[in-house]
Order: sequence, then C-alpha cells, then structure tokens
Amino acid sequence: MEERKLAWWQRPIVRIGIAIGLLVILGGAVGGVYYTQTPPEQPIAFPHSTHVGIGAQCLYCHPGAATGPVAGLPPTELCWGCHQQIQRQTPELDKLASFARSNEQIPWVPVAEEPDFVHFNHRPHIAAGLNCEDCHGDVGNMQVAEPQAGQNMGWCLSCHQEMAPEQWTRLSDCSLCHY
Ligand code: HEC
Ligand code: HEC
Ligand code: HEC
Ligand code: HEC
Ligand code: HEC
Repeated sequence: MEERKLAWWQRPIVRIGIAIGLLVILGGAVGGVYYTQTPPEQPIAFPHSTHVGIGAQCLYCHPGAATGPVAGLPPTELCWGCHQQIQRQTPELDKLASFARSNEQIPWVPVAEEPDFVHFNHRPHIAAGLNCEDCHGDVGNMQVAEPQAGQNMGWCLSCHQEMAPEQWTRLSDCSLCHY
C-alpha cells in the first residue's frame, strides 16, 4: 500500500503557518485603520477650513449623507465649477486644473472608514438630528480631514444606548450592523 503524499501546502504545519500569517496581516490592517490618527497624504491638499469658511455647507459636497448610506465625495466638476473662475494659481490648484482638464476623478484617500463587515448608514443618523461634527469632529476648522480615534463597536453601541434607550433592543441587535 502506498502512503498518501500531501502536497506541501496541504501539510498541517504549513496550513497553521499560513493561518497565523493571515491573522497577523489582518490584525495589522485593522489596527492600521483604527489606531492611526495622522491624516493620510491626499492627492491634493484640500483645505476644509477655507471652504467651510467661505460658507460652503457640508451637504453641498457630501449630499449623500442626508439621503442614503454613503455621504460621497464631490466630483472634480464641482470643484472646477468654482475654481475655473478663480484666477489664483498655486501648486495645489495646478493639480486640480490638470485633473479637471483630463476629465479625471481625484483619487482621495479614505479618512473615516469602518471595516467591510460593518454596515453603517448616514441617513437615519442625520434624520435623528445628529450633526456631522458629533461623529467627525470639527471638520470645518480642520486644514485637512483627520481620522477620529476610538470609533469602534463600543462607540456605536454606547451612543445607541444613550440616544435611543426605548429602541435599544433593535439598535443593539448584531444583525443591525453585521449582515
Ligand atoms: C464654492 C466654490 C468652491 C468650490 C466648490 C471649491 N472651492 Fe476650492 N476654494 C474656493 C475659494 C474661494 C478658495 C480660496 C481662494 C483664495 O484663497 O484666494 C479655495 C481654495 C482652495 C485651495 C487652496 C489653494 C491654495 O493652494 O492655497 C485648494 C487646494 C482648493 N480650493 C481645492 C478645491 C477642491 C479640490 C475642490 C473640490 C473638492 C474645491 N476646491 C471646491 C472655492 C471653491
Ligand atoms: C467644497 C467641498 C467640501 C465641503 C464644503 C466639505 N467637504 Fe468634506 N471633503 C471634501 C473632499 C474633497 C474630501 C476628500 C479629501 C479629504 O479627505 O480631505 C472630504 C473629506 C471629508 C471627510 C473624510 C471622508 C473620507 O473619505 O473618509 C469627512 C468626514 C468630511 N469631509 C466631512 C465634512 C464635513 C463635516 C463638512 C462640513 C463641516 C465638510 N466635509 C465640508 C470636500 C468638502
Ligand atoms: C453617527 C455618526 C456619523 C454622523 C452623524 C455622520 N457621519 Fe459620516 N461617517 C460615519 C462613519 C461611521 C463613517 C464610515 C462609514 C464606513 O466606512 O462605512 C462615515 C463616513 C463618512 C464619509 C466618507 C465615506 C462616505 O460615506 O462617503 C464622509 C464624506 C462623511 N462621513 C461625511 C459626513 C457628513 C458631511 C456628515 C453630516 C451631514 C456626516 N458624515 C455625519 C459616521 C457619521
Ligand atoms: C452619536 C450617536 C450615534 C453614534 C456614534 C452611532 N449611532 Fe447609529 N444611530 C443613532 C441614532 C440616534 C439612530 C436612530 C434611531 C432611530 O431610528 O430613531 C441610529 C440608528 C442606527 C441604525 C439603524 C438604522 C435603521 O435602519 O433604523 C444603524 C444600522 C446604525 N445606527 C448603525 C451605527 C453604526 C454602525 C455606528 C458606528 C460605526 C453608529 N450607528 C454610531 C445614533 C448613533
Ligand atoms: C451599532 C452597530 C453594531 C452592532 C449592533 C454590533 N456591532 Fe459588532 N462591530 C461594530 C463595529 C463598528 C465594529 C468594528 C470596529 C471595532 O470594534 O474595531 C464591530 C466589530 C465586531 C467584531 C470584530 C472584532 C472587533 O472587535 O473588531 C465582532 C466579532 C463583532 N463586531 C460582533 C458583534 C456581535 C456578536 C454583536 C451582537 C451582540 C455586534 N457585533 C453588534 C458595530 C456593531
């Protein structure tokens, strides 16, 4: 009788090794999202403070927050609508001009992001009267959008418990946020 030979990747020790490797990689990725507070480098240094300062509303650039799950980022055309009329030239505005001329969207790097297995929806939060600042900090005074620390499951749940105690059963159900 011939001994059954396992391919190298089927050997238990190799599989355990791969599993541990994946855990380390995933752990690192998750940690990277939650524990970094330094804003990422953006393709254009977009100053929130300047734009909110001239009176642009959050929902003017992020209209999806009032109507659905995703707030959305403004398309290049929205930026260009104003900036093609502004004569000012700076290195950052030159970058904007070249995205606009080549009809490209700007590849912004996410700042506020939950992992894929969490379902967040902006609409019910805005409908319940919350302000953007309650969750994102004082963006209107930030030069660049900064990630907020500690926005984990405990953060979601403690606000649900506080804001809507009569709905706690529904708002703490695992399947509300994980499905
Ligand atoms: C409502 C009009 C308006 C819109 C929309 C708008 N901007 Fe501006 N932006 C301005 C004004 C006004 C300034 C200030 C210009 C000044 O200081 O002379 C400014 C300043 C800037 C600056 C700083 C320039 C510098 O280097 O000092 C950058 C960068 C910029 N905008 C990029 C953008 C991008 C990217 C978008 C789209 C996401 C955008 N803007 C959308 C009006 C607008
Ligand atoms: C003129 C357009 C404009 C206005 C007005 C504006 N934003 Fe933004 N916002 C942007 C752009 C462009 C980005 C992507 C670049 C960045 O992250 O800095 C962004 C990014 C963000 C992010 C991070 C998004 C991500 O991808 O993780 C948050 C949160 C945010 N904005 C909240 C706000 C709030 C709150 C206000 C009102 C106080 C506001 N914004 C007003 C254009 C705007
Ligand atoms: C109850 C807390 C909460 C409130 C209030 C809130 N946000 Fe968010 N926002 C989040 C969370 C959590 C994420 C990450 C969602 C994800 O990754 O699925 C996010 C992501 C974003 C993003 C990037 C991803 C996307 O959805 O486009 C933008 C832009 C944003 N928010 C803008 C706003 C603006 C503008 C307001 C106010 C009109 C607002 N948010 C109100 C919690 C909130
Ligand atoms: C600052 C307070 C606050 C925070 C933080 C918060 N929520 Fe909520 N959430 C609410 C309120 C208020 C409601 C609306 C209750 C109602 O239906 O009237 C709600 C409702 C919801 C709903 C139910 C939507 C529906 O269909 O009825 C979901 C899903 C949800 N939140 C997910 C999250 C997640 C995920 C997070 C964290 C990433 C989070 N929330 C953080 C206050 C908050
Ligand atoms: C209101 C939204 C919400 C509800 C309800 C919720 N979770 Fe979560 N959960 C999150 C968010 C946001 C994260 C990711 C952020 C974090 O904790 O680092 C998460 C992460 C997790 C993780 C990954 C481990 C971790 O800590 O990162 C597990 C496992 C989990 N949830 C299980 C559950 C179970 C089981 C329930 C029901 C008892 C539940 N969740 C209810 C929002 C929710």
